Amino acid sequence: MEVLVFEDYDAASAQAARLVETQVLENGQSVLGLATGSTPLGLYKALIEGFKTRGVSYKNVRTINLDEYIGLAKDHPESYHTFMSKRLFKHIDISLENTYIPDGMTHSPEEECQRYEAVIDNVGPMDLQILGIGTNGHIGFNEPGTDPTSLTHVVELVHSTRASNSRFFPSLDEVPTHAVTTGIQSIFKSRKIILLASGKNKAAAVAQLLSKEISADFPASFLWNHPDVTLIVDKDAYALVQTEGQ
Ligand code: GLP
Repeated sequence: MEVLVFEDYDAASAQAARLVETQVLENGQSVLGLATGSTPLGLYKALIEGFKTRGVSYKNVRTINLDEYIGLAKDHPESYHTFMSKRLFKHIDISLENTYIPDGMTHSPEEECQRYEAVIDNVGPMDLQILGIGTNGHIGFNEPGTDPTSLTHVVELVHSTRASNSRFFPSLDEVPTHAVTTGIQSIFKSRKIILLASGKNKAAAVAQLLSKEISADFPASFLWNHPDVTLIVDKDAYALVQTEGQ
């Protein structure tokens, strides 16, 4: 795992954007694995800027998102469909039929998981996967305890994840209890992975990750077993990392 530490969120986001743009410029038909949450917002802003000012085109790019809440319609203000549309897709020249996100309103979540894993296999694999990290070490919605061989599956969100994401909903009660998420093994199908973390509230998670202890209790730690991961953090998120000599 390569670790890149930047002064602040904007500098970290700019570096992530450079890596994504390099991928897209090298291969205009790249498959990007995309994440939601607050962390990649700066990256998406920088990509929109790159599209508008430097002409980086996403015309033939395909995207595969990590997860979606079960029970939220695509046009629900907090669905990940809405998030991706508002924060990225509608601002760049990507074709919406080239963008994939699990269907949270499916009548059969189990079938949706199988269908989505087939999307990863048929459209993917992802050339470059963007990940954020939950304070409990979750990636996608792979909560602590997730099996490293997991494919796309239904997950019951733990209280801390729902509490953390309740900032986007009118109340905690309205945060969905379940989600469809790509699994650890689905994520591992990616050729390259960029893990982003920013801010003091991620400092403990980053320190835990960089302790290099691999455990299902902290799903992001499985990333140590992937051959091409770059962790991009700002100083605040890196603040609790014990470096040699300290
Ligand atoms: C969410 C998402 C993850 C995201 C994480 C961190 O629940 N499912 O993909 O990485 O939590 O979110 P944030 O970036 O807002 O801290």
